[in-house]
Amino acid sequence: MTKPAYVIDEMISAKSIAARIEDLAKIIDAEFDGTDKLVVVGLLRGSFVFIADLVRELNLPVEVDFLEASSYGDGMESSREVRILKDLRGQIEGRDVLVVEDIVDTGHTLHQVIDMLNTRKPGRLKSIALLDKPTRREVDMKADWTGFEIPDEFVVGYGIDYAQRDRNLPYIGKVRFT
Ligand code: IMP
Ligand code: MG
Repeated sequence: MTKPAYVIDEMISAKSIAARIEDLAKIIDAEFDGTDKLVVVGLLRGSFVFIADLVRELNLPVEVDFLEASSYGDGMESSREVRILKDLRGQIEGRDVLVVEDIVDTGHTLHQVIDMLNTRKPGRLKSIALLDKPTRREVDMKADWTGFEIPDEFVVGYGIDYAQRDRNLPYIGKVRFT
């Protein structure tokens, strides 16, 4: 199968992302002040760069864990049914938890992940997303904190892929088919 040709136009620079993460980290530090340990849960794979930068800005004791939920296949279509492909290694009952997502799009993924984690009776459970596409929403869901609201464009970079490509770009770019 041949891959469609596309170019990537920068939308959010690496510098803007870094500055925004510094601000978000201060908010999270204040929110979870006094926690014995915050379990920071990255949703694989798209959040891996964001979680790495975010935890290094936090001044809280943290533990890092990962969860993989299926949402997209290898294309650009969202699936509405979310399955857990890889579960957390640790227990979260009674623990403070921060879920870290790359993009909230239709909202199904974060909504279902939060519901599932709530059944495990965590202490405080909050969520943060680097990007939010509010115009695409299909369920009433918003992360507690968002890095940037963006229009309905398909984006890549900073951990986010198109068919597993372009995760290694240091900035967020929008895909334009040529
Ligand atoms: P939702 O369940 O529709 O909110 O989908 C969220 C997931 O879809 C994100 O975690 C991403 O993995 C993926 N996604 C949504 N928009 C984009 C995009 O513009 N580029 C790449 N992946 C995206
Ligand atoms: Mg994802």
